[in-house]
Amino acid sequence: MKNDFINVALPKGRLGEKVYSLFEKAGYPCREAVENSRKLVFENPDAGIRYFWVKPSDVAIYVERGAADIGAAGKDLLIEYGPDVYELADLRTGRCRMAVAAPKGFRDDLSGTLKVATKFSNIAREYYRGKGRDIDIIHLNGSIEIAPILGLSDVIVDIVETGTTLRENNLEVIDTILPISARLIANKSSYRFKNAEIRKLADAIEKVVSHE
Ligand code: PRP
Repeated sequence: MKNDFINVALPKGRLGEKVYSLFEKAGYPCREAVENSRKLVFENPDAGIRYFWVKPSDVAIYVERGAADIGAAGKDLLIEYGPDVYELADLRTGRCRMAVAAPKGFRDDLSGTLKVATKFSNIAREYYRGKGRDIDIIHLNGSIEIAPILGLSDVIVDIVETGTTLRENNLEVIDTILPISARLIANKSSYRFKNAEIRKLADAIEKVVSHE
C-alpha cells in the first residue's frame, strides 16, 4: 500500500462511528467508510487518509506493530494490555467506567479467596493487590454479568456505561476503579517519520473535541 497516507485503525461498532465523525469534522472525510458495511479499507487520497475497521481490542495491536499509524482505543484496553504506543489525545467519547459489581446486598466477608470474573484480569489483579485482598481471577470473554448470577464468581470487574446491564441483572456497583474514554494513539516510529502529518491531524481532532 502507498505510504504517504496516514493509516488509521478504527474500532468496529458504535464507538468507531463516533470516532470517525470526529475525524470527518477535523477535515479527514471518507463517507464511504461509514456507508459500506462489508468493505474494510477506505481511502481519501485528497485528505491523505486511509481508514480500516478492526475489532476494538485489536486496534492497539495494529498501531503498536505499525500496520496502522494511528488509531482509537479505549483507555481500558490501553491499561489492560499496555501496548507500546503514544497516547496523543483524549477523544472524550466512549465514556464509561471500570467498576467492581456484585449481586445486590453482597458483603465481602474476607474469610476466603474472593472470586472475580472479568475480561480485564490485569486491571482487576492490580486493583485487589492495592487492597491486599486475596483473589481468584476467572477470565471470561464477554457477558461477564452472568458469572455471579450463576455462582461462578462473587464479583465482577467490568465496564459500566449506562448501568442498564447491571440493573437488569440485579447487580450493583460496589466501587469505581477508573474512568474510561477513547484515546487517539500513535505508532512510535510513525510519529517520528510522519510527524508533521500526524501532528496536524491530532491538533485538528483536539480542536473538534474541545468544541463538542
Ligand atoms: C459492555 C460491558 C457491559 C455493558 C455495560 O459489554 O461489558 O456488559 O457493556 O453497558 P451498560 O452499563 O450501558 O449496560 P459489551 O456490550 O461490550 O459486551 P460483552 O458482553 O462482550 O462485554
